[in-house]
Amino acid sequence: MSASMEVTLQDPPIDQVSDHNGVAAQDSAPSPMLSEQKVLVSVEVCLKPTSTARIDDVCSAVVRMLENRSLSYSDGPIPVPLDEAFLLENVQRISICDTDEWMNNHNILLFWQVKPVVHVFQLSEEGPCEEISTDGQLSSFNEWILPAKEFDGMWESLIYESGLKQRLLRYAASALLFTEKGVDQFLVSWNRIILLHGPPGTGKTSLCKALAQKLSIRFNQRYPQCQLIEVNAHSLFSKWFSESGKLVAKLFQKIQEMVEEENNLVFVLIDEVESLAAARKAALSGSEPSDSIRVVNALLTQMDKLKSSPNVIVLTTSNITAAIDVAFVDRADIKAYIGPPTLQARYEILRSCLQELMRTGILTGLQDCKNITLPNYASAKERLNTPENLEAATANQLCKQLLETAEACEGMSGRSLRKLPFLAHAALANPFDCNPIEFLCTMIETAKRERSELPD
Ligand SMILES: Nc1ncnc2c1ncn2[C@@H]1O[C@H](COP(=O)(O)OP(=O)(O)O)[C@@H](O)[C@H]1O
Ligand SMILES: [Mg+2]
Repeated sequence: MSASMEVTLQDPPIDQVSDHNGVAAQDSAPSPMLSEQKVLVSVEVCLKPTSTARIDDVCSAVVRMLENRSLSYSDGPIPVPLDEAFLLENVQRISICDTDEWMNNHNILLFWQVKPVVHVFQLSEEGPCEEISTDGQLSSFNEWILPAKEFDGMWESLIYESGLKQRLLRYAASALLFTEKGVDQFLVSWNRIILLHGPPGTGKTSLCKALAQKLSIRFNQRYPQCQLIEVNAHSLFSKWFSESGKLVAKLFQKIQEMVEEENNLVFVLIDEVESLAAARKAALSGSEPSDSIRVVNALLTQMDKLKSSPNVIVLTTSNITAAIDVAFVDRADIKAYIGPPTLQARYEILRSCLQELMRTGILTGLQDCKNITLPNYASAKERLNTPENLEAATANQLCKQLLETAEACEGMSGRSLRKLPFLAHAALANPFDCNPIEFLCTMIETAKRERSELPD
């Protein structure tokens, strides 16, 4: 089964391009698109925690550096040239983003085809601020300042069929743009509610957080401050409903305060919304105190109110694929089904795991193991179709085995896949001396065992 979008998204308009000094407008939709025959490519620049450089200065320095660079563009980090003292001092990392869709269709993206859109940001190291209720119960929400250190790299680590993440990003970008430009809701209707639904362990919660992080980076010119509020729906509807009423009120009062500041972009994540539906159903059937229904309704009313604020994006997830009986979910503009990873996604997830175990020296035994770069899915397929030369024999065998492992993992969730290497390692006869090829054999065995334990 592959992940698919239920709503087809239109390509964003082609009008938000560059200003005179060659830096493309920062808040343009983040997709590759043509303008003056150029493809807009996002370049994310993460500042060092110690840097106090002005964003504009860093931005211009990066644009200049890129102009001097006559290479091809593809997703991933690019090194800061050693003669760029200012950048070396202030920048932790520069990454090219969002080229994969273009690459799938055209194979190569050369510097003269590109107009870089530079986003400079600094990660917040504050960590989550947890709201503990007075009686020591579960907290009702967590709050992060975005972009946060905890979510760094999360977006890149989530692997779906080509285009899914881009479509989500574009959807949110269009929604923010419509709001920004004051499009009349009576004439064109849209909202800022996203629902990701699908089986457990497919990365929905992570994708919501990663999306919020990405948007906070991409829109940091317009919204210099971003927060993510993660509402713990379970705790809101835990034992004491009378208490829940107060919690909901307190929570939304807090959100309202954040939203009133117009330079704030606020993401509200309501994870596993089906628990709201369950609470309501229990209330209606009389198995819960009758104020539970009021609490659920209060939450829905508050959500509705939030929708009129331009600077809020509501992210929701549900593990239930069938219809969810929660009023506001019906109004979500985008409902994306997130399914178990496809063969290609499984290959890529396992590739990243294997690469990490080789990097850290857990897997050894092959010559120069730490420096082997495993090819991506497309190159792996291609490689296996070309006649083998002797030098490439080991690498080819690794690719082949990795593909076989990915095939053996059909039906497993992303979460199970990311745990598989650990389980396989624990099953090794000699865990301190294992080469990647042997390891993959053990992974296949472990996958078979895990799959036999999956519910039908
Ligand atoms: N498609 C995927 N690609 C990469 N990793 C994934 C994928 N799906 C799930 N994972 C891994 O599983 C972990 C748990 O996912 P989570 O967001 O809790 O899933 P869900 O909310 O759907 O239950 C993630 O942190 C990630 O490491
Ligand atoms: Mg989840």
